[in-house]
Amino acid sequence: RTASRHLLVTGGAGFIGANFVRHVLRTTEDRVTVLDKLTYAGDLSSLAGLDEHRMNLVVGDVCDQDLVHSLVARADAVVHFAAESHNDNSLADPAPFVQTNLVGTFTLLEAVRRHDVRFHHVSTDEVYGDLELEDLARFTEATPYNPSSPYSASKAGADHLVRAWSRSFGVAATLSNCSNNYGPYQHVEKFVPRQITNVLDGRRPKLYGDGRNVRDWIHVEDHCAAVLRVLDRGTIGRTYLIGADGEHDNITVMRAILELMGQDPAAFDHVPDRAGHDRRYAIDAGAVRSELGWSPTHVDLRAGLADTIEWYREHQDWWRSKKAVTEDRYAETGR
Ligand code: NAD
Ligand code: DAU
Repeated sequence: RTASRHLLVTGGAGFIGANFVRHVLRTTEDRVTVLDKLTYAGDLSSLAGLDEHRMNLVVGDVCDQDLVHSLVARADAVVHFAAESHNDNSLADPAPFVQTNLVGTFTLLEAVRRHDVRFHHVSTDEVYGDLELEDLARFTEATPYNPSSPYSASKAGADHLVRAWSRSFGVAATLSNCSNNYGPYQHVEKFVPRQITNVLDGRRPKLYGDGRNVRDWIHVEDHCAAVLRVLDRGTIGRTYLIGADGEHDNITVMRAILELMGQDPAAFDHVPDRAGHDRRYAIDAGAVRSELGWSPTHVDLRAGLADTIEWYREHQDWWRSKKAVTEDRYAETGR
């Protein structure tokens, strides 16, 4: 690993990207340039307070070829988080998902190919589709792709582009596919922060369908540490699955949030299910643990949720302006 690198982090003003930039500045000597379009999901204030000598933000689009080429040419490595990331939005309007997730990844790949720059692509376990509740199997690097939603299909397509550019053009790329993240700076459209901010706002939390859908929860700091580990020590051309053995069904997580916030654990509304709703995700993160020596530090979901609740309680300035518009959008779909 080079002592000090210049990283280009796309989507660094989003949830995981901002946590990653903070992690890099805290644990390495690296400098970071963030490229972020500041869509509804990006927030300048998620990067507030960071050392300006080591981090700068370029507001722009990963589909902007000229801009991407000029930034990639000056970087030692690219870590690509930028994406449209929310399944419900992809059902309402898939167009930006195809544009950003596919065309944006293509644009970056062409730039790293031309300038011979190391590339890490951040992806999701949703590319594998879903598992049955009764089935004890977990996703591995060998699981066939079978995405369900426009979001996961666009991420699956992007993953295929990265693999093709690696194999056919020799681009020095790695990929990681992670399970559901939670923690600070997550947009209030997502399950955990939506329910926390609903309670803080005096609204009733909303559970889709029967709530038995299982997600494999990982704290965002553990995901960020794993991505940095893959960037530093991963084998070029490989895919790493990242997860923390955190499987819980939604109704259990919902009740835990309500209890931790001093509410009746039954004080939530059942709302219509998401179309095509994946039933269960589960990650086998054996390779990243045994080969790269990574392991999660936040292993107790209740403790992680309690910290996250505290963060949202203390950072109402960060989320309040996003809340009303998000709930108005949900109201249009009866959720
Ligand atoms: P997010 O929606 O919170 O952030 C996305 C960021 O990308 C925002 O800052 C947004 O402004 C930026 N962006 C969007 N379109 C852009 C464009 N065209 N050009 C430049 N910037 C653009 O997303 P997140 O939850 O932080 O997810 C980050 C990445 O991690 C995504 O690639 C996602 O697929 C992947 N991922 C997320 C999770 C999860 O649980 N959230 C799990 C696994 C993988
Ligand atoms: O698995 C990784 C993926 O996790 C990432 O690739 C995505 O970017 C990220 O958004 C997340 O996708 P999900 O669709 O699993 O996350 P979401 O927070 O939207 O929903 C989590 C579960 O909770 C899902 O089963 C739907 C349900 N849900 C969601 C919301 C917003 C509810 O029951 N009520 C809600 O209000």
